Amino acid sequence: MSQRETWATRAGFILAAVGSAVGLGNIWQFPFKTSEYGGATFLVVYLIAALGIGLPAMLAEFVIGRKSNLNAISAFEKLGHGNWKWVGVLGVGTGFWILSYYSVVGGWVLRYLGGSLTGAYFADPAGYFGSISAGLDALVLHAVFIALVVAIVAGGVEEGIEKATKLMVPSIVVILGVLAVWVVTLPGAAPGYGYFLSPDLSTLSLSVSFDPLPSFSGPLTDVIPFAVSQAFFSLSLGMGAMITYASYVGEDQSLFSDSLTVVVLNSAVGVLAGLVVIPLLFVQGIEPGSGGAGALFVSLATAFGELPAGRLVGVVFFAVVLIAALSSAISLLEVVTSYVVDNYGARRPRIASALGALIFLLGIPSAIDTAWLGWFDTLAYQLLLPLSVLGVLVFTGWVYGRPAVAELLSGSSLGEGVGLTWLWLARTIVILAVLLTLWLGVQTLFVDGAIVPPI
Ligand code: PFF
Repeated sequence: MSQRETWATRAGFILAAVGSAVGLGNIWQFPFKTSEYGGATFLVVYLIAALGIGLPAMLAEFVIGRKSNLNAISAFEKLGHGNWKWVGVLGVGTGFWILSYYSVVGGWVLRYLGGSLTGAYFADPAGYFGSISAGLDALVLHAVFIALVVAIVAGGVEEGIEKATKLMVPSIVVILGVLAVWVVTLPGAAPGYGYFLSPDLSTLSLSVSFDPLPSFSGPLTDVIPFAVSQAFFSLSLGMGAMITYASYVGEDQSLFSDSLTVVVLNSAVGVLAGLVVIPLLFVQGIEPGSGGAGALFVSLATAFGELPAGRLVGVVFFAVVLIAALSSAISLLEVVTSYVVDNYGARRPRIASALGALIFLLGIPSAIDTAWLGWFDTLAYQLLLPLSVLGVLVFTGWVYGRPAVAELLSGSSLGEGVGLTWLWLARTIVILAVLLTLWLGVQTLFVDGAIVPPI
């Protein structure tokens, strides 16, 4: 087998991981969901979920990846636990599943970038979204988006992914920062900050009844699973991405500080996106709707249509969203590509193209009807992501155990106590929290009937 690739620099890995994490989840979903699920209250629940559950889970994925130096499936064999390979298969499958509809939304972003240039959506933002979000248009743009992702991944780890994300991630932060400062200066923005960030304590109530199994009700039953799954989605956990990226990392790098950087930057970009998007809507007197697939597109397009420099702002904004979406999507394609490259040694460009074609096919229902897109997304959030992260945690905490601590500490100056605390947390509280999330998600799917496909 030829020499396996590695990141050229330490920053290369961190930026690629941040690039994977920061994406449509931060810009398309996070601001709207934060407003909808209780503003500052949700933000606190989300940050607890990201730091308390996401961070330990990310460390587990980093450990599996770096120790094995292999793709997310073969890693389990290399660590001597081939019968836990299903965790990797589930992760890779989840990534495949998510990328199929993520790419459809990526296609919408491409279209809106073009639409901002020409002003195509200014006259009728809602009608425009309806006409491009499903059907032939959406299908073609889904294909174009996948083709862009394939082109980057085909370039390889160092030449393709590292070079691309080194440019992309700083641009996202800088441009969003500039937009956020600009929005502050607009008249009418102030109530938007209140809407985005003011707490709503009523979202924190929960009741439990036993009949004989525990059954939960109250707003918190929505807030908790959404916050936890959003943390997983947003941190690119449970889809093999972080295992794969960490497999190209050397032993001299501190996994702990790297993962903290990813979690902090990712949350910061979510908040920054909210500080742009929500006040911008208020400037135009648009009440952010209930979220949903079209929220970002319809409401922002309306705002851009009415602003004096709307065209320019629209182009800049959708360019950032596109960059963020691409730097995330490449990590998902890399997960599967690295599996095939590791095991069959086939040529990268050919594999990336073939896999891109399969992902295109799986995304066809989502491109034809947004109800399918919603169904794919719901299944990922309520079932696949928590299940997959649960597998990673049970494996790392209970099966792999102590060697994981040594791997975590390699390259770091932290004492063994930190490593042991992490292992203990991963074995107990974190697993319980993910189990609760999964249980609530399964309730939504099966009791509320969300599992039924929209045929
Ligand atoms: N973390 C990305 C986001 O928040 O948009 C989404 C994503 C990227 C999901 C990469 C999964 C993944 F592997």
